[in-house]
Amino acid sequence: LQVKSELISPDGGKLVQLVVEEDLRREKKRESFELPRIKLSTIDLQWVHILSEGWASPLSGFMRENEFLQTLHFNSLRLHDGSFVNMSVPIVLAIDDVARNRIGDSNRVALFDPNGVEPVAIINDIQVYRHNKEERVARTWGTTAPGLPYVEETIANAGDWLIGGDLEVLEPIKYNDGLDRFRLSPAKLREEFLKRDADAVFAFQLRNPVHNGHALLMTDTRRRLLDMGYKNPILLLNPLGGFTKADDVPLHWRMKQHEKVLEDGVLDPETTVVSIFPSPMHYAGPTEVQWHAKARINAGANFYIVGRDPAGMGHPVEKRDLYDADHGKRVLGMAPGLERLNILPFKVAAYDTTQGKMAFFDPSRPQDFVFISGTKMRTLAKNKENPPDGFMCPGGWKVLVDYYDSLVSS
Ligand code: ADX
Repeated sequence: LQVKSELISPDGGKLVQLVVEEDLRREKKRESFELPRIKLSTIDLQWVHILSEGWASPLSGFMRENEFLQTLHFNSLRLHDGSFVNMSVPIVLAIDDVARNRIGDSNRVALFDPNGVEPVAIINDIQVYRHNKEERVARTWGTTAPGLPYVEETIANAGDWLIGGDLEVLEPIKYNDGLDRFRLSPAKLREEFLKRDADAVFAFQLRNPVHNGHALLMTDTRRRLLDMGYKNPILLLNPLGGFTKADDVPLHWRMKQHEKVLEDGVLDPETTVVSIFPSPMHYAGPTEVQWHAKARINAGANFYIVGRDPAGMGHPVEKRDLYDADHGKRVLGMAPGLERLNILPFKVAAYDTTQGKMAFFDPSRPQDFVFISGTKMRTLAKNKENPPDGFMCPGGWKVLVDYYDSLVSS
């Protein structure tokens, strides 16, 4: 008799799925043309995608004001039974005065694609409330310093109102960029993990190319899980696919790089699922890393790897990191609503010159370690210089050199 493996249950117990059943699509689409229209930005559409597949379960649409307030003030949402789930970043839709007037007293609105041509979704039972941008930004990022990438891109020039309500999405969201086959929904990922008979799923969130320091975290986790008695731990390598800042490596280059990392045997394809996490990136450090972890519970992961300065970046105006590099993992270990997730915190990995490879930093011999930051990596690749041997697999490094080459020649 075989015991069937079971995955961690989604937040709220049931995976939210908001895409309308196929036989109702035509009718819903027809209805949407009759409703007041809101045109989505590219990033709004990424959030529709996130909501539609239940990454934010149990959230069933853009936040109404109560959900927004709970998110900002408690980093969590209270369910009907009194329990809490984690929810640390507002998933909201901003509209301006013109749109608000257009909506009038309608109870529903239609969301149109960024070209304003095709209807994408309907919001039912809407609520429109004030968008206090300063308060939202201050509470989400802990600063209102100018130059926060997500703020500049989506909030600074956004409307003064937010619209929330229950979402019905007319069709699965596709990008037609050649990468849709890597965009597995939480439901599909769960199917895949069950098909592979996973008895543990460990997620790795990333927005950068995989270097051997990242790989060390992943292979070390696998070893630890095997030591704990798990027989078939599966890695979810889940690169973030939505908005990223201008100097991050674009998604399709990162996907090429990840492919090489598997080809070169740095990670084992047999025990790894590579799939894109469609969320936009906030760079909100300890606040955002909770979102990154929570979403992976919904995708079926019960272990979550976290290392140095997750979701962090340099301060936009001062010469320092925006967040304390240890706070992300400390906060994850204590976050309300994430108790069910096993957090695997890691020390910083750096290049150990005595071994000629990436290793966990040993504070007793700091002089032996070289830190290769994102900026340093970019400079090396741009100048066609090589990083030290053992920093990244050669195939993966070549992709980065090609990427920076393409910038120069375009
Ligand atoms: S993030 O924005 O997705 O967090 P990144 O892709 O750089 O950024 O990091 C992915 C994961 O690897 C995060 O958990 C981060 O903490 C961890 N990480 C990145 N670099 C290192 C490093 N040198 N040592 C330890 N952990 C690291």
